[in-house]
Amino acid sequence: MGKNFIDIKDFSKEDIIEILNRAKELKHLNKPKNVNLGLLKDKNIYFLFFEPSTRTKMSFLKAASLLGATTFDFETSKSSLNKGESLIETLVNLESLGADAFIIRVKEVGFFDILKNKIKASLINAGEGTYRHPSQALLDLYTLWEEYDYDFEKLKNLKITIIGDIKNSRVARSLLKLFSLFEIKTFIYGPSTYLLENPEVYNTEILNSLEEALNISDVIILLRIQLERQNAKKYFPSLKTYNYFYGLSLEKIKNIKKNIKIMHPGPFNEGVEINSELAYSNCSLIFKQVNNGVFVRAAILEKLLKI
Ligand code: CP
Repeated sequence: MGKNFIDIKDFSKEDIIEILNRAKELKHLNKPKNVNLGLLKDKNIYFLFFEPSTRTKMSFLKAASLLGATTFDFETSKSSLNKGESLIETLVNLESLGADAFIIRVKEVGFFDILKNKIKASLINAGEGTYRHPSQALLDLYTLWEEYDYDFEKLKNLKITIIGDIKNSRVARSLLKLFSLFEIKTFIYGPSTYLLENPEVYNTEILNSLEEALNISDVIILLRIQLERQNAKKYFPSLKTYNYFYGLSLEKIKNIKKNIKIMHPGPFNEGVEINSELAYSNCSLIFKQVNNGVFVRAAILEKLLKI
């Protein structure tokens, strides 16, 4: 594993298992909470978020705090980017100020591929347009691993269905790659306008109905309709119709015999892809995902930055 954390395919299975094991240790070490382990006390981490974020930014911040790193929140809207300075120039200047790592969320796709050979500090992808969100995928895998007794063999017996806007989802792309690496069987379902034209490339299969998804799946991962990126009417008639045909509620899963688990990367559109009764129910892993994000992201930072 190199100095950057950009794409799932940059890591071997062994790298990922090492990160998950370390995340488990760090979660244990963080009791009582707000421990400062001091492992990265000489490191400067800069946050550059060009799109909104709650979970990713706050959990990377908490992760850095757990490891004792110094963090800097780069105010994109008040910076010299607005005077025409390029992003590459900006990062080079921040390196001159002592940056060891950049945690970056961008709207544009392909930005990291251009930067990775020009910047010496570590580049960490905190969400790249509709393309990649590798740390979300890792924390989702960690959450399942924890839920299934830290046993990768048990994960291989699971059937996981991702429902929703697969085509425009950076989370779905990263998850499908990661689950494939761990030989976990996946399916996708949603409006046909949202499905992949080449599911075989991602080692996944398209299901035909929500009923089929509920019957065969051990885990269902719901995705957010990204209303800020798209005119939803291009993909389905209305949010109400979406909720009726593709959304999940406690009512819809009440007749499922097995103990199905529901995940969502967040934030969720309440009443569209999920209702809040289900999101806060015992079937839901949603808030465990958020909590685990801190420790998985701390393990990533430590692996990249600790000498
Ligand atoms: N899952 C996720 O990326 O959430 P945020 O946009 O709040 O960071």
